[in-house]
Amino acid sequence: MRYFLDSAKIDEIRYAYKNWGIDGVTTNPKHIKLSGKPFLTVLREMAKEFEGVDFPISVEINPHLEGSQEMIDEAKKISELSENFIIKIPCTEEGLIAAKTLTKEGVRTNVTLVFSPSQALQVGRINSYFVSPFVGWKESSGEDCKQYIKDIVKIYKNYDIKTEIIVAALRNGKQIADAAKAGADIVTCGFNVYKDSFYHPFTTHGLRVFKEAWDETEIGGDK
Ligand code: E4P
Repeated sequence: MRYFLDSAKIDEIRYAYKNWGIDGVTTNPKHIKLSGKPFLTVLREMAKEFEGVDFPISVEINPHLEGSQEMIDEAKKISELSENFIIKIPCTEEGLIAAKTLTKEGVRTNVTLVFSPSQALQVGRINSYFVSPFVGWKESSGEDCKQYIKDIVKIYKNYDIKTEIIVAALRNGKQIADAAKAGADIVTCGFNVYKDSFYHPFTTHGLRVFKEAWDETEIGGDK
């Protein structure tokens, strides 16, 4: 399962690429706003950073666009900025009409804001490159999403759908592991979610115990 970083902050992206070997990036208007930079500045920065490297970067179109033709026009403009850009389109009827045309014309899409297996099936039917079912938002409202992701994986297998599943908006390591158990292709998480997933309190405790033992043991031999 590949790891994408959900961020538009170039420093975080650089760090995660260099140290953790992340496989791609996803952004959304919220992340662009948090970067503190203009939309096109962020896009140019990311395009330059990964020029010549096969590194998928999902960029979302203006969420105010509602008609499929407007979405298509904007998606094409953004995709021309970098070969790595994959265009995020919202999972609405118009969005899916746009994504269908874009896919046929060779523009890779990531249909986002997916919250049910039947939406994911619509995305698979039009052969979008990626689909992004959100987990965190549902689990924060008390829903257990394990079955929801398993269902999408199963439906795609049943019909040999090639759309890759990015399980999105994850909040902790357990949700990452659940996505892996369900057979997702990719997860996308914020910087701190990955950072936290390196740690376990027993690892910290175990290290303390081992350090104490080490300090009370003779090493022996020539130093
Ligand atoms: C996924 O592609 C989205 O950018 C992302 O996961 C949105 O959710 P969040 O910003 O609430 O984590």
